[in-house]
Amino acid sequence: MLSETTTARARGLADLPPVKSDSLLALIAMANADPRPDKIDVGVGVFRDASGRTPILKVMKQAERILLETQPSKSYLGSAGDKRFAELLRPIVLGEHAADERIAGTQTPGGCGALRLGFELIRTINPEARVLVGTPTWPNHAPIIRSVGLTMVEYPYYDRASRAVQFGQMLEALDNARAGDVVLLHGVCHNPTGADLDDQQWAEVTRVVSQRGLLPFVDIAYQGFGRGLDKDAAGLRGLLNACDEVIAAHSCDKNFSVYRDRVGSLFIKTGSAAATATAVAHVYQRAREMWSMPPDHGAAAVRIILDDPQLTADWHVELNAMRDRINSVRARIAAADPRLAYIGQQYGMFSMLPLSPEQVLALRERHAIYMADSGRFNVVGMADEAIDRFTEAVVEALNG
Ligand SMILES: Cc1ncc(COP(=O)(O)O)c(C=O)c1O
Repeated sequence: MLSETTTARARGLADLPPVKSDSLLALIAMANADPRPDKIDVGVGVFRDASGRTPILKVMKQAERILLETQPSKSYLGSAGDKRFAELLRPIVLGEHAADERIAGTQTPGGCGALRLGFELIRTINPEARVLVGTPTWPNHAPIIRSVGLTMVEYPYYDRASRAVQFGQMLEALDNARAGDVVLLHGVCHNPTGADLDDQQWAEVTRVVSQRGLLPFVDIAYQGFGRGLDKDAAGLRGLLNACDEVIAAHSCDKNFSVYRDRVGSLFIKTGSAAATATAVAHVYQRAREMWSMPPDHGAAAVRIILDDPQLTADWHVELNAMRDRINSVRARIAAADPRLAYIGQQYGMFSMLPLSPEQVLALRERHAIYMADSGRFNVVGMADEAIDRFTEAVVEALNG
């Protein structure tokens, strides 16, 4: 009977509990509301140029113009998204493995979508799977893993005191992992620490992962921001050499500067082309359930760039300029004080300062410098003219 009376009130939308706000988003809002004209927001997670802006790449503007002029239809593409985009990305991401038929790549809504889809696939294989994650890590990893229903197991990755990868402890944790455990690895430009594995460490991790039968899941969101497109993918490619099964979540949102357009892809390698085809069929099914198909615009523009040698060359020039800025700001900060020298040896947009939450708060109050409580800051969050002001304030904080 539909109209059974009950004394209990049905729960409605108004019964939802408040949501704890994301601390980084709250920080950005606070920085935006600060009226001081010389404020420095290094909490934000996007590349900024020497004048402090996040411009649209010139080559992207050109590709968008071409897209506007030539796109014949906006009819559905299906869960795979733009297949030519995924094909053109293969040599960039996979290098010498580009022609390997055991590897499939498919478009996703950004790197986040690729992570979600990869973990969905893992849950389809084994809902009991454990995901080993180094600490600290990008704050969105844990919510994505947990929302899929997988168990997350942390291992120590970065030691704040020595400002280095705790490699011995990391390797020991991997050595003690169970066959079938998933190991999440940052492909390059570790977020939040900037501390990447060196070539020797990648080789060691690859050896342990393959010997112990672990499933490596590489999150590569900053290819080209570290040492160059190929060098930045070397860790992933080494794993592809050694392991039959590999998953990678890739993002073009940073290296093409199209953050809000959500351009990502998921790569899957299994032991055979047939098994990969089955895995991809599952991936499309999960995608269909979640977002049906990825947004087209950004990936179509990236496809136009990668399909044209001149536009690709133009992209390389702009990508190299972004990387050069990251590394030159790093060098300037590193030169300001011996206690900051390590920043010159790290990669990507983020590093952590050895500051307490109280010191971070003091920087905010006294100097209008906004960064996460952990001391994570965006190396290129500030304009060139603000770098000296930033380093002087940080050195003052370090001196206590
Ligand atoms: C480590 C890491 N992985 C994945 C992503 C997700 O990137 P996207 O914006 O493409 O979803 C980010 C973005 O900040 C990131 O830092």
